[in-house]
Amino acid sequence: MRSKVIRLLALLVVVALIATVSFVGCKPKPAPQPQKPVEKPEKVTIVFAVGGAPSEIDYWHSVIDKFEAKNPNITVDLLRQPMQTETRMQTLVTPLSGKESTPDVFLMDVAWVGQFAASGWLAPLDDFVSKDNYDLSVFFKKTLDLADTYKGKLRALPVYIDAGLLYYRKDLLKKYGYTAPPATWDELVKMAQKVQKGERKDNPNFWGFVWQGKQYEGLVCDFLEYIVSNGGNILDKDGNPIINSDNNVEALTFMRDLIHKYNISPPNTYTEMTEEPVRTTFQSGNALFERNWPYAWALHNADDSPVKGKVGIAPLPHFPGGESAATLGGWHIGMNIYSKHKEAAWKFIKFVESYETQKGFAMNLGWNPGRKDVYDDPDVVAKAPYLKDLRKVFVGAVPRPGVPYYTKLSSVIQKYVNAAIAGKMDPKEALDKAEEELKEIIKQYGKG
Ligand code: GLC
Repeated sequence: MRSKVIRLLALLVVVALIATVSFVGCKPKPAPQPQKPVEKPEKVTIVFAVGGAPSEIDYWHSVIDKFEAKNPNITVDLLRQPMQTETRMQTLVTPLSGKESTPDVFLMDVAWVGQFAASGWLAPLDDFVSKDNYDLSVFFKKTLDLADTYKGKLRALPVYIDAGLLYYRKDLLKKYGYTAPPATWDELVKMAQKVQKGERKDNPNFWGFVWQGKQYEGLVCDFLEYIVSNGGNILDKDGNPIINSDNNVEALTFMRDLIHKYNISPPNTYTEMTEEPVRTTFQSGNALFERNWPYAWALHNADDSPVKGKVGIAPLPHFPGGESAATLGGWHIGMNIYSKHKEAAWKFIKFVESYETQKGFAMNLGWNPGRKDVYDDPDVVAKAPYLKDLRKVFVGAVPRPGVPYYTKLSSVIQKYVNAAIAGKMDPKEALDKAEEELKEIIKQYGKG
């Protein structure tokens, strides 16, 4: 008992000593402050609007999954849009003109980036770029300058670049004694007629040549290729319409004749043929030649494709004395100026433009990356050899008129070119009318 009391006393002394030493050695503690909550990064959801072929939508989902895994505080909701460019545009014009904050990020056709920028709907990206020291030299400067910059500010970045190409059946050309794809439109007609005649014996659905002729933006892209490959264009260097030139009338007459005279393109060309029906006709083995964008390559060579391994790609043919022409297409990514989550949106844009994602586009979808450093990647060269072989086609691709009211010009061109290829209007009369209407629009809106 005694020893217990002594031990207790000793303990008290030690505790007292420690307390004294600590008190002497320390500054008085400041009065306790109200506790600041630990800053947890806010969880945000951004909406990303995108359209395209079903395989493209699937791929976008995988891009989003990877992004979310790296950015656990950001959720990306994919707002699925249709395939056709006009409808895609319409689904964006409605919320943007109503100043809605979503979708936060979206893809835009190169044909209407200018219109969106001029409408004030695209958030400038310059501050994000400088804050992050983001390297813009990985993009084609010409593309950034011509398509993505408006009034000196960067409004978008290229995701992929399109150019019109000629797809052909290597096996069938060989079977009918041809050693190379056609260089001129005339050669294309001759080959198509011969092969079509032969193949129809077993397959009554077989067509020589399929292309986009429905009344929509794709028709303007095809039309531009025919007229430029005959030395023509829509506007001259100064922005004046020259759509009813003799060369253009000749080219449009040829387009009509593909359907009505040479009978190598189906009558539904002018009622139904957009990219996907054209692609599926060719892919199911029902056509010798196809005009389409690079996306068709990966699908034609997919495991379940009846034409896998049988497809070649070449520059589009030209008229005598002319040069092959491809329309410049492609899709660019931009940010809604009314978005409430611009930081998160910028992170997502950077991820879409990263080397990894861009390489994935080329490898899985056959897209022509918006970033130029991906083109020399050995895996990409092996998987999509045409990107390198046809570089000339992509570099020299012809842009559509670069005015902010381009879609107004386009609807006039679509209307008259479609009427001519449907056989409802003489090609000369159609282009004369188009010329008059284009002049009116330009008078109203100015030349740029
Ligand atoms: C492709 C092109 C685009 C073009 C459209 C026409 O998507 O990339 O630029 O306007 O086809 O259908």
